Amino acid sequence: MSGGSAAAADDARNAGASADTGTRSNAHAAAPRALVTGASSGIGAATARALARDGWSVALLARRADALEAVRAELPAVGGAQHLAVACDLRDPAAIERALQQVAERYDGLELVVNNAGLGYRAKVDELDPELLLDTFRTNAVAPFLVCRAALPLLRRGRAPVVVNLASVVGRRGIPGQTAYAASKAALCSFSEGLRVEWADEDVAVCTLNPALTATGFFEAQPNPSGLPDPDLAGAAGPEDVAAEVLALARHPKPERSMRAKWLALTALGLFAPRLADRLLAKRLGGGWRAPRR
Ligand SMILES: NC(=O)c1ccc[n+]([C@@H]2O[C@H](COP(=O)([O-])OP(=O)(O)OC[C@H]3O[C@@H](n4cnc5c(N)ncnc54)[C@H](OP(=O)(O)O)[C@@H]3O)[C@@H](O)[C@H]2O)c1
Repeated sequence: MSGGSAAAADDARNAGASADTGTRSNAHAAAPRALVTGASSGIGAATARALARDGWSVALLARRADALEAVRAELPAVGGAQHLAVACDLRDPAAIERALQQVAERYDGLELVVNNAGLGYRAKVDELDPELLLDTFRTNAVAPFLVCRAALPLLRRGRAPVVVNLASVVGRRGIPGQTAYAASKAALCSFSEGLRVEWADEDVAVCTLNPALTATGFFEAQPNPSGLPDPDLAGAAGPEDVAAEVLALARHPKPERSMRAKWLALTALGLFAPRLADRLLAKRLGGGWRAPRR
């Protein structure tokens, strides 16, 4: 599979160089096509911009129609690329079906699906609101299942198609004060692993990307009922750094990529020496967290 997507994207761009781009079928010929969820801000918007600069047609999904349209309107249309904004609440399975139908009306295949939309939740377990807990799992874990399911007919018609699931370093290592968020991302990591093998027969490459701390509006958007301290964003990655990793995976799919080696080491340590991993985590987090005494 490695290199196949790059070749598909190059083929598509070459085909587009002489194509009239005004119709649905020519949009197919003109540019590789991507669907990016959560494209109204942060990493998703940066990914849409990076893809458009690289000659892709991009379908942008999120709830805020105005913000989504603002991102779409500024995307360059390279080589006849056609972008579309589809307002969709990914917590609603019927809305996902409708959104993918809208995408299918414009693109007759997809080379890339980026499951990026996500919601943080900073709260201790005893203060979790059941509805917000369900929202966290619906957005971060259930929606990628349903988006992939609905996108499969389009992926089957794509050239060397790739799915990139945006999980998190905390999806591989549970973390206090964010258990709901981390567990929803762990579910996404597991989904990604299973799907990767399940879709081998479909020839769809499935990648998991685990960003670490990234400076976006994520921390303002997340419910935080008792004002647990947010991390210091000094030294955080920028959304463009994560977008560059998405593009790299679209070109050369890899099963999983973690953007912070220290978290990868902590994940591995947790399997073999969980008490030591807990101690290191509590020390690293600060903020009054302590390693368990027993
Ligand atoms: N920032 C970090 O430090 C960090 C670290 C690791 C992983 N990540 C992951 O990276 C991804 C992007 O996060 P970000 O940092 O770019 O945060 P962000 O700026 O808050 O972006 C989140 C995006 O998800 C969309 N979204 C949320 N709920 C949705 C829903 N119900 N339906 C449709 N769209 C929805 C939002 O759009 P609307 O509000 O318009 O719906 C927005 O476009 C997330 O999956 C996040 O978990 C972030």
